[in-house]
Amino acid sequence: MERGRVTMDRNADAPWSKFDPEVYVDNNYRTPLEVDLLIVRLLRDYFTRCFEGAPPRSARGIDVGAGANLYPALSMLPWCEKLLLLEYARPNVEYLEKQVAPAGYDIAWDPFWDVLREAPAYAAVEPRPLVADIVRVERGNLFDLEGGDRRWSLGTMFFVADSMSEAPEEFHRGVRCFMNALGEGAPFAAAFMKESVGYRVGAHDYPAYRVNEETVGQSLEPFTEELEIHDLHHSVRPGHEGMLLALGRRNKAIAAP
Ligand SMILES: C[S@@+](CC[C@H](N)C(=O)[O-])C[C@H]1O[C@@H](n2cnc3c(N)ncnc32)[C@H](O)[C@@H]1O
Repeated sequence: MERGRVTMDRNADAPWSKFDPEVYVDNNYRTPLEVDLLIVRLLRDYFTRCFEGAPPRSARGIDVGAGANLYPALSMLPWCEKLLLLEYARPNVEYLEKQVAPAGYDIAWDPFWDVLREAPAYAAVEPRPLVADIVRVERGNLFDLEGGDRRWSLGTMFFVADSMSEAPEEFHRGVRCFMNALGEGAPFAAAFMKESVGYRVGAHDYPAYRVNEETVGQSLEPFTEELEIHDLHHSVRPGHEGMLLALGRRNKAIAAP
């Protein structure tokens, strides 16, 4: 919150309908950052370990709050028979629909695939036709996942629970909704901006809740049976202190409401 402000920006208050995916890609992904390539390597190696010996393409994957970032979906691609991109902001939904159309996704995502295909399971698939074939985009609200009966066996949520509201309870609710959408034993990856004070996309400001390794650990631990948190000391812009990547598996505990 800025000095003198007495209200907090909650998720429903932010200008999601004005989110500009092309500007967001320009700001974050068009020129791949070392930290994102490092994250992609960690995702690749973690999921490869998790799916060793599993029947090929057997998972049902979800990327929650996919926005204008295709690399979490690409990291799940070889393991999935179906993959859902859930996103709330309409401009991002339109961006994602273009990415999954038969014409194939944007070349901006090739450097991320280049890192993924260093592992044999990724090298064995042709990503553009496979994305067009198995990935579906759905406009939806993360908060509606709670209490629903839909479950996925592999999931990612990148820079969403921490980057959608200033309210602490909405951060924890976001994490809980994501974890509740995963079935028992489902591998997952979740990324967070560390100590973010919010971010700007084009002419619009978006809220964040300041998290650190401890906050992220506390929010995830009740739902996980295996959890590693990587503290990546890379700052990509002023207004945050690095990134946190959590890798783990969903436990069998039923989450408290
Ligand atoms: C900082 S962006 C992260 C986008 C992308 N996952 C990435 O890794 O760059 C936050 C995303 O959360 C989405 N979002 C915000 N509120 C949401 C909600 N209630 N349900 C689902 N997605 C939401 C935004 O539209 C935006 O795409």
